[in-house]
Amino acid sequence: MDIINRTVIKRYEYAQVNLATDSNGNKLIEKIQFHISPVIPLTFQYDYHELEMMESIIKPLEIPHARIINSIQNERCTTYVMDFIDGINCGDEPKAEYLYIAAEKIGAIYSKSKMNMNRLSKGIIEKYTLTKEKMFDYIEVINKYYNMTPIYSIINYIFDKYQNQTQFVTHGDIQFKNFIYNNDLHLIDWSGQIDPFFSDLYSLISQAHKVDADMDEIKKRYLEFSKISSISDEDILIGGIINAIRAIFTLLIFDCPTEWVESSYNELQDLIPLLNFH
Ligand SMILES: Nc1ncnc2c1ncn2[C@@H]1O[C@H](COP(=O)(O)OP(=O)(O)OP(=O)(O)O)[C@@H](O)[C@H]1O
Ligand SMILES: [Mg+2]
Repeated sequence: MDIINRTVIKRYEYAQVNLATDSNGNKLIEKIQFHISPVIPLTFQYDYHELEMMESIIKPLEIPHARIINSIQNERCTTYVMDFIDGINCGDEPKAEYLYIAAEKIGAIYSKSKMNMNRLSKGIIEKYTLTKEKMFDYIEVINKYYNMTPIYSIINYIFDKYQNQTQFVTHGDIQFKNFIYNNDLHLIDWSGQIDPFFSDLYSLISQAHKVDADMDEIKKRYLEFSKISSISDEDILIGGIINAIRAIFTLLIFDCPTEWVESSYNELQDLIPLLNFH
């Protein structure tokens, strides 16, 4: 593939996103993920690639996503080129309507996951499934900085409660800046996993206040597209708790700014007392 021009859209320590043009004048997105090791030594295997998630999970499940055109991996980084979705980045113009459409999209991801999960390889399912043991590993890391001992019983409660629930794929970073809208809404920037928790739905609902969106409408659209008969407030709360723990862990191991870690930690501290468990 012949990229003849590149402009940097974003550059971080761990990733770079370029807008590229090929010799026919087509626009493409080139994303480079640098293989940086966690700053905190981990006693367990942790590696994550958006590319792997798209190719080995999102594509076989037939979840709509930007098509991957090309990819190269070396020791330093993974580079992948994908379709450029020509539309507005919803982060620039957040609106309630985008949350409603996103609720339909993540509802559809639930039902597609449920239908097509048997298409995924055993190895991929194992690598991407959030188990209680993985959660305990994350908490052990977090506990080096914050003392969250009672969280172990909360995690036991949550995993017992969900042990027979449907496992499905999450997007993992549901926020306006990861939605592109043209005549449809496209989700970009995947960092999800396989689990039974409604963390993406929690993310949508928790952003409703920013755009004066109706939380019941978000939930209604999610239920319609996921074909789930009902989701309780506790299910959504648990989605938020799971989200926050994973966020704190990821931010800590990649040495992200303290304010980001604190913000996720404070969110978790606000959510825990709302959970009525024994
Ligand atoms: N397939 C695409 N089509 C059009 N624009 C895209 C596409 N993928 C990424 N972009 C643009 O590049 C920006 C950064 O991409 P992306 O969100 O995937 O990377 P990131 O490194 O995780 O960035 P951030 O941390 O800001 O979310 C997006 O906000 C979007 O504007
Ligand atoms: Mg993004």
